[in-house]
Amino acid sequence: MDTLVERGVRVRIFDMVLPTFRSDVEFYQGSLLDLEALQMAIGDVDVIYHLAAVADVKDVYEQPHYSESINVRGTINVLEAVRQRRSRRVRVVYGSTTWVYGDTPADVVDEDSALGAPSHLYTATKIASEYYCQAYSKLYEVPVTILRYGIPYGPRSRDGGVVPIFVRRALNGEPLTLAGDGSQFRQFVYVEDLAEGNVMALQPVAENKVYNLDGRECITIKQIAETVGKLVADVKIEYTAARPGDFSGKRVSSALAERELGWRPKVPFEEGVGRYLDWFRARAARNETEWARVHDSLKSEAGS
Ligand SMILES: NC(=O)c1ccc[n+]([C@@H]2O[C@H](COP(=O)([O-])OP(=O)(O)OC[C@H]3O[C@@H](n4cnc5c(N)ncnc54)[C@H](O)[C@@H]3O)[C@@H](O)[C@H]2O)c1
Repeated sequence: MDTLVERGVRVRIFDMVLPTFRSDVEFYQGSLLDLEALQMAIGDVDVIYHLAAVADVKDVYEQPHYSESINVRGTINVLEAVRQRRSRRVRVVYGSTTWVYGDTPADVVDEDSALGAPSHLYTATKIASEYYCQAYSKLYEVPVTILRYGIPYGPRSRDGGVVPIFVRRALNGEPLTLAGDGSQFRQFVYVEDLAEGNVMALQPVAENKVYNLDGRECITIKQIAETVGKLVADVKIEYTAARPGDFSGKRVSSALAERELGWRPKVPFEEGVGRYLDWFRARAARNETEWARVHDSLKSEAGS
């Protein structure tokens, strides 16, 4: 959103929840499950970034039925709202995930890799949504672009990710715990690089295409702990038994996005973690000031 606003694009958000980080964009409150509300919100837009979802795999595991409604029916509603607005050509950019490769046997995957039958419900909902996008594109000529995001990190990250968890523990002087020998790797993509990729995907070449948008470096869990140790505090790293079936890692190629869109992630992992840390500290300082203000005003109310 920031990247679009900076470029002078008028942004409208449709969500059930008020945006927390910006108040200078248009906001329509509603649910994806309400087709009429969605149609109203679409109004005169040229592009929809369809990102709304139950995006935390743990939530999907705990609420499969609800998650399916948001992640799959929600996507059809977006596509259907666009199909019904025949007078306007609206591009749908769908935020998918590199998790769709989770059941592909190859160690290195790209957009041509065949997807295996999904073992996780989250992946099942994302693959189903991708298929609906493709079917709407073929049957009704709704222009779509599917972007498979890697694991984003950086300022405003959700607290449950591995980087935020390690940073909090290190700031508290607690040890960082690794399952197994910590050699499992993941690719991480810095949030602003990912945002840039989303904007680049608006180019005409990206119509009716699928792109991976993932980081270039493979970072092991041990490297994350070491980076956090270096930037925050030199806390102990503890090893626990490996988790059975823990996914050791798969290399996702984003070469197509580089070739066709000119997208290449720029921010190295250590720098991105540093930027997250700066944001985290600034937020903590702001919260402290706010608490002190509330405390003072309650005290003076009690005294009066
Ligand atoms: N975060 C990741 O690690 C990651 C990785 C790859 C892909 N993705 C995909 O990117 C997208 C965004 O992920 P995120 O991490 O920013 O998720 P998020 O949970 O931060 O944001 C999802 C948003 O969807 C909204 N939403 C949920 N149900 C809704 C409904 N019925 N109607 C309207 N809005 C609704 C929520 O209020 C929330 O603001 C998702 O589609 C996710 O699957 C995320």
